Amino acid sequence: RSSLSSRSSCPAVLRIQAMADKGMQGFLPPFKHFATNAIHAGQEPEQWRSGAVVPPISLSTTFKQRAPGEHAGYEYSRSGNPTRDCLEKAAAALDGAKYCLAYSSGLAALLNICHLVKAGDTVICMDDVYGGTNRYFQKVASENNLKVIFVDCTKPKCLEAAITPETKLVWLETPTNPMLKVIDIKACAEVVRRHPGVLLAVDNSFMSAYFQRPLSLGADISMYSATKYMNGHSDVLMGLVSVNRDDLYERLKFLQNSLGAVPSPFDCFLCNRGLKTLHIRMKLHFHNGLAVAKFLETHPRVEKVIYPGLPSHPQYEVTRKQCTGCPGMITFYIKGNVKNASAFLKNLKVFALAESLGGFESLAEHPAIMTHASVPEQERKALGISDTLIRLSVGLEDEEDLLQDLDQALKAAVSGEFPSKNNPHPAFPTG
Ligand SMILES: Cc1ncc(COP(=O)(O)O)c(C=O)c1O
Repeated sequence: RSSLSSRSSCPAVLRIQAMADKGMQGFLPPFKHFATNAIHAGQEPEQWRSGAVVPPISLSTTFKQRAPGEHAGYEYSRSGNPTRDCLEKAAAALDGAKYCLAYSSGLAALLNICHLVKAGDTVICMDDVYGGTNRYFQKVASENNLKVIFVDCTKPKCLEAAITPETKLVWLETPTNPMLKVIDIKACAEVVRRHPGVLLAVDNSFMSAYFQRPLSLGADISMYSATKYMNGHSDVLMGLVSVNRDDLYERLKFLQNSLGAVPSPFDCFLCNRGLKTLHIRMKLHFHNGLAVAKFLETHPRVEKVIYPGLPSHPQYEVTRKQCTGCPGMITFYIKGNVKNASAFLKNLKVFALAESLGGFESLAEHPAIMTHASVPEQERKALGISDTLIRLSVGLEDEEDLLQDLDQALKAAVSGEFPSKNNPHPAFPTG
């Protein structure tokens, strides 16, 4: 198969394409016209009087009307903004969707989606999800009389068994955060379709629209913390929600305006710009992620590696069937105890010890202490989020530097060496 709809003559791009093609063997073929849509969809220069090729940042909160109620499509920036429109159109095209809506964060997007259901309804949520999603469902939604039950949806039979007449929303996240369990979206969609009135939403933050399109697999709603790969530069908090159904769009558009959690025009500009290189970034995230996962799998200081792009992953075949590749997210268990895990994280030099993921820079974190501290301890234990679990977001640096950094930190973690207090993060040697 030809994995790319267009071929560049630039040697650097060709190198990335060749690397990506190698890694992507056996995965779903890339979505057609992705790069062209990323660059052009919704960006037509003709829409601006100036003909600007790069969409201007429209900061105005209000728009002049010719006569009361007679305007050029915009009244007030919460209900609609030209820069946000550009982003929403580009993101819809990348998700293979009719519509997309932008929010001020991924959790704001979740909040808007949850307003599609009402008090007394039941939500079924995948058992392993981002800590903030878990916290919202357990400590906010539940207190507002929304019943939330957590189910392992990697087994569609468990989902089927959990659905009752009160169920109105099924919330999936795949791969899950942090255990990287992969859910068969199509199989779950078939289950949900047997229960009219139940919505299927998928948090697609880890895969991005480049590797996975939930709507084409039968989901009603595709949601992103665009703070992650979609923007990809760790400088914007953003949520995105794509849908095909007109009724869902109308309701979500109403909620976007009514709840008011919209992103700023400047953030829309940045995220729109980030989308222009999503395809190139994701290929390199996959290349580096696979290299790191393979390296860790053979490392004597590593107990176990979880990466959906490795044949050792329990849902490797599902991943290849529904995704065009894998991102740079890897979790692994370091040998030893929490002290070794901590020493490893403190000794990293290229990887920064920080929460979040999906940016161009490599990050490492300790889910039990950091991103998933809000998940009750018993649940963490049941899911496997132990004291020796480490999550990596592999960035776009040189593969060799990343492997070297992991190797030196794993070795230092064993001998219990810590970086000195005066120089906790010595600069990585440059060439
Ligand atoms: C999978 C996933 N969904 C949702 C969120 C929440 O997004 P945000 O931080 O943009 O509100 C995160 C944040 O880390 C996440 O990892």
